[in-house]
Amino acid sequence: MAFNKRVKIKTILDQHPIGSEITLMGWVRTKRSNKNVSFIALNDGSIITNYQVVADPNVIAEDVLKKCTTGACLKVTGTVVESQGAGQASELNAKSIEVLGEADPEKYPLQPKKHSLEFLREIAHLRMRTNTFGAVFRVRHALAFAVNKYFNDKGFFYIHTPIITASDAEGAGETFKVTTLDIANPPRSEDGSVDFKQDFFEREANLTVSGQLEGELAALALSEIYTFGPTFRAENSNTTRHLAEFWMIEPEMAFYDAEDNADLAEDFLKYLINYALTNCQEDLKFLENRLLDEEKSKPVDQRSEMRLIEKLKFVAENDFVRITYTEAIEILKRSKPNQKKKFQFLIEEWGADLQSEHERYLVEKHFKKPVILTDYPKEIKSFYMRQNEDGKTVAAMDILFPGIGEIIGGSQREERMELLVSRMEELNIPTDEMWWFLDTRRFGSTPHSGFGLGFERMVQFVTGMGNIRDVIAFPRTPGNAEF
Ligand code: 4AD
Ligand code: MG
Repeated sequence: MAFNKRVKIKTILDQHPIGSEITLMGWVRTKRSNKNVSFIALNDGSIITNYQVVADPNVIAEDVLKKCTTGACLKVTGTVVESQGAGQASELNAKSIEVLGEADPEKYPLQPKKHSLEFLREIAHLRMRTNTFGAVFRVRHALAFAVNKYFNDKGFFYIHTPIITASDAEGAGETFKVTTLDIANPPRSEDGSVDFKQDFFEREANLTVSGQLEGELAALALSEIYTFGPTFRAENSNTTRHLAEFWMIEPEMAFYDAEDNADLAEDFLKYLINYALTNCQEDLKFLENRLLDEEKSKPVDQRSEMRLIEKLKFVAENDFVRITYTEAIEILKRSKPNQKKKFQFLIEEWGADLQSEHERYLVEKHFKKPVILTDYPKEIKSFYMRQNEDGKTVAAMDILFPGIGEIIGGSQREERMELLVSRMEELNIPTDEMWWFLDTRRFGSTPHSGFGLGFERMVQFVTGMGNIRDVIAFPRTPGNAEF
């Protein structure tokens, strides 16, 4: 079979090569038949649009046509002709149809009706065959490609940081343990504790919660680097914004201060949005309509003020707001939901950690724009963040997005050895285990900065999907590792 001679539907729709004979392969979305003719809508995933195959029962045997049911996979050879009906410039006049894979209509779970996102999550192995998930995963691909293009064009180097690590110095969350010990009967030390010296790595190991620390090592040699890899957090958060396995992009740059860091982050986010606007028009248009439709069932005040594409353009074209944590606390203290005790966590004093309700108030109600929040109290941020002159705050930066909340977390790093060590000691972080990290401050230290973008949260923002489980192919969340 000349599989390599197949033409993608995207190519046909770009070119409409009227008169040429071509071979298409794809899955049946719908079939309509009358006595004289069958219309088969075929989709091969290359583009959201289906391509119409016209099958004459005098040409295509009845038993073959019978098997062309929703979900079946076909190889169709025929001639491209001008379309009779409206909607599409050309269609394929079938000369031969081969059913590559049947799909029993009694059993195939995807029917040409609307299924709920919850139902589709249960059949995630098939959901990419729907318009919604086809669109989401094409946009996800485009964004991943754009990440690499953006940094490559700027001269950043892609570093693959380890997925198994022995340090949890980030303190970013609970880790998943990595071990080859027999968990039912592990070797024990004399004091009864598990003897990890006998484990594979001769020490405790876990899946990484961030590539940052290794990224810093690379930045202090190659100047500008990024990582883009899977990240694991065993926190028991069952929200629409958390996954146990997600992908994070972490650039790390020598010779950048906090302001340079924020400038890069804003430029990067706008680039990704513009890339999708330019390269994913059809999918975004579809996703915009999907969202409009979904929001029809919501009370008017909970619907988005802007349509998806309008919102993306708005974010790409306007400056982000930049304020300090201290300014944000003042705004939140005076805010209506705080005064009227509508927040679940009321903001009473400086030092309070911001919850997503506060972040979303700032972005969605107060500023109605993305917000870059800087200079948080050191107590609520990681040990590696650079301490400010005031002795109270650190050069942290969180970027908050409408509908999402925190999309980026980052900071300028503490490059001064004494200050870093004293902060680690205050937090009981073992400095001896972190000798390699501290060596960068010992030898040729320099100001440097970086941030982490949660890739799925970015895909959520661009696609308008409300649940993070719907922007990653096979989500891992508490109680769920199917597929
Ligand atoms: O704010 P976080 O924890 O920052 C770090 O890990 C730093 N080491 C980054 C750096 O400076 N290099 O995580 C960064 C981003 C968050 O803003 C969020 O978008 C995303 O990662 N994120 C998650 N996304 C999905 N599921 C989770 N459980 C996430 N936890 C964080
Ligand atoms: Mg964070």
